[in-house]
Amino acid sequence: MTDDATRAMTRAVRLRRLRRTDGLRRMVRETRLDAAQFIWPLFVRSGTGIRTPIGSMPGVFQTSVDELLRDAERAVAAGIGGILLFGIPATKDAEGSSAWDPHGPVPQAVRAVKQALPQLVVITDVCMCEYTDHGHCGLLTPAGDVDNDATLALLAREALAHAEAGADIIAPSDMMDHRVGHLRAALDAAGHTHVPIMSYAAKYASAFYGPFREAAESTPSFGDRRSYQMDPANGREAIREVRLDVLEGADILMVKPAGAYLDIIAAVKQDTAMPLAAYQVSGEYSMIRAAAERGWVDGERAMLESLVAIARAGADLIITYFAIDAAAALRGR
Ligand code: PBG
Repeated sequence: MTDDATRAMTRAVRLRRLRRTDGLRRMVRETRLDAAQFIWPLFVRSGTGIRTPIGSMPGVFQTSVDELLRDAERAVAAGIGGILLFGIPATKDAEGSSAWDPHGPVPQAVRAVKQALPQLVVITDVCMCEYTDHGHCGLLTPAGDVDNDATLALLAREALAHAEAGADIIAPSDMMDHRVGHLRAALDAAGHTHVPIMSYAAKYASAFYGPFREAAESTPSFGDRRSYQMDPANGREAIREVRLDVLEGADILMVKPAGAYLDIIAAVKQDTAMPLAAYQVSGEYSMIRAAAERGWVDGERAMLESLVAIARAGADLIITYFAIDAAAALRGR
């Protein structure tokens, strides 16, 4: 074809035609958000009547179980898919033994929510960092390294305490090798064959977790998490991580953080038929909230744009502190 003929043809193509009205844009929209795909992280501690704001996360609180029930009710009313529970224990020690206390905040909260709102999916985060006095995600060797294989047994005790309380899904976030297989075997041996594992499969050592560590009181007292969480520079390694978790019996995979790792979400989606979750973490949330407070961005639009981007990249489920606000914004449209 001559250049002129090609040019004449392309002149017939006008991409703006389908953007002209809201009705047209809505009709050809490729990605739709649904409150049912949102998972709302909540921080629970013991006591009653507690609702403590987290300074670095406006709109996010540490609550006691009674107050958490109010939030769980709001989640159900908003049609949110599920909640993800993090516990702040009354006491911490070197091995994080309160992690498997059946009367700890997480098992208590699970029992209370499942009794009051059986239809709400309750997921529990399984990790040692909230429970150890040193703040690392596992047991330390005398040299101060995190001991992978010794940590597996502690994670299993924690997961069993959550399953026994009635958790619908267990979500290990520790990044120890082989923990999915170990937890699967431990759950099965105790009769919890029906409890799925949502694995934090590709979890990066990220600066975006900063505000969470205030919320969960889990900042490491020395060092960092780079010997167990992934190097942000690595993409192919994420595929190795998720393939290993699939072989070990994971039911749902997760990429974390989300916004700066959309390529990883897309690559994992390509590589597997597994349900895929992405965690829009505390720093992603707080940056949008902070910029909106200053009037630098339109908070609601930035929130929805960040979420639709995560879905467009391939996430089926989105864990987000915006869950309740995003559900309300979607209803209002
Ligand atoms: C604990 C855990 C962390 C997050 C979820 N589970 C913190 C960390 O690994 O340091 C981060 C969540 C967030 O930033 O919102 N292992």
